[in-house]
Amino acid sequence: MAKPKLTFCCQTCGTLYPKWTGQCTGCNEWNTILEEIRTKPENSRYQGFAGAESTMTRMSEVTLHDDIRLSSGSQELDRVLGGGIIMGSAILIGGDPGIGKSTILLQTVAHLSQELKTLYVTGEESPQQITLRARRLGLPENHLWLLAETHVENILNHVQKEKPRVLVIDSIQTMHTSLLSSAPGSVGQVRESAMQLVSYAKQNGTALFIVGHVTKEGHLAGPRVLEHMVDAVLYFEGEQDNRYRMIRAVKNRFGAVNELGIFAMTDKGLKEVSHPSAIFLSRYSQPVSGSIVTATKEGSRPLLVEVQALVDQSNTGNPRRLAVGLETQRLSMLLAILHRHSGVMTHGMDVFLNVVGGLQILEPAADLPVLLAILSSLRNKPLSQDLLVFGELGLAGEIRPVPGGQERLKEAAKHGFKTAVVPHGNMVKKTIDGMQVYAVQSLRDAIEWFEGM
Ligand code: TYD
Ligand code: MG
Repeated sequence: MAKPKLTFCCQTCGTLYPKWTGQCTGCNEWNTILEEIRTKPENSRYQGFAGAESTMTRMSEVTLHDDIRLSSGSQELDRVLGGGIIMGSAILIGGDPGIGKSTILLQTVAHLSQELKTLYVTGEESPQQITLRARRLGLPENHLWLLAETHVENILNHVQKEKPRVLVIDSIQTMHTSLLSSAPGSVGQVRESAMQLVSYAKQNGTALFIVGHVTKEGHLAGPRVLEHMVDAVLYFEGEQDNRYRMIRAVKNRFGAVNELGIFAMTDKGLKEVSHPSAIFLSRYSQPVSGSIVTATKEGSRPLLVEVQALVDQSNTGNPRRLAVGLETQRLSMLLAILHRHSGVMTHGMDVFLNVVGGLQILEPAADLPVLLAILSSLRNKPLSQDLLVFGELGLAGEIRPVPGGQERLKEAAKHGFKTAVVPHGNMVKKTIDGMQVYAVQSLRDAIEWFEGM
């Protein structure tokens, strides 16, 4: 078979080049040119139509076969996946190095291998290292197959012969295909390798797990197209030095997104945390300024999380706004709202914000707690430890209701919170036992409450 022709193509404007260059002369963008395989259209100008065997179907005549969902052996992971693993689906698992991707997959496939033929392809660790880990974790090992290989064509040869029902690729950055001449880990290699593996999985109904590393900026190392190719994308969140690890679905064709699964890293691997609502709270003996507790609803259950702020005189001309676990852009917007609608100035101040435990809060319900934590730090006025705050802020200084207010309040009451400041629209009709709830309509109301505290 003749080798397919290689060309280089700008990913932004589509200009073709015979060799790689740094800048595209077509659109002047930098670093957009990638190696691509071009197969020559065979004596037909309408290649897309040639040999097509597709048929049209009436929607009412489409037969649905029940998607069989396999349990991963962990309720938390099943929840993130939308109820379990679907055969023939491709799942991408991303996260920082050392966060636990290989560990969770080894635990999962050791469980699955009890019923289905399972192959773990490793490009990073040796079979000895993996076996050592499995023994230490006490996982069942007799049915699990291992393969140390990084060449995609070789992997496909093996799987076509052995036909595993579950396939793990750890990691996609170490894989390479001979269709391209670039080095493993380059964008073209990652994309082509993944494309071949995913199309094998789809055609053969194999469940495919792909491990992907994440760069310092928090993006998957490799092209965005990787996310489009697969059915589900799961990301690990959390800090290396914290024992809790979160897995979030950022894309899922078979379930809800933003669902969070929570695990604890122990000496026996990742253990699920089934009642995680209060694990992100720190307990101080005395109330401290700049700390506040909010209830966030990432996925289907409320979590109580501590938000910390530190406001300090800046000694540079360009004061810093730094947020960990929240969007920095959102922080700047909130500071502008604080200034315009209540005259509190933070110009010339550094503002730091941190969500305890390495959790990422993506929903705007953290707006009001963030501003109150900032005020508390600015005025050096501690807030009570049994206080819960949530609410979204609008640019006009109004406080908007958030979904699931009642649930958030109930969860907090369960953990002994006595006071809550919530949006007026979330005011509960029925009182919650042992909890005093203040409703606020605007930032002005909230600040009035803060001053009068
Ligand atoms: P690993 O799954 O190898 O990370 P990744 O594949 O995402 O790079 O995770 C390894 C980390 O987890 C390592 O820092 C050690 C820690 N760990 C434990 O604390 N307990 C365990 O039982 C295992 C297997 C790993
Ligand atoms: Mg690994």
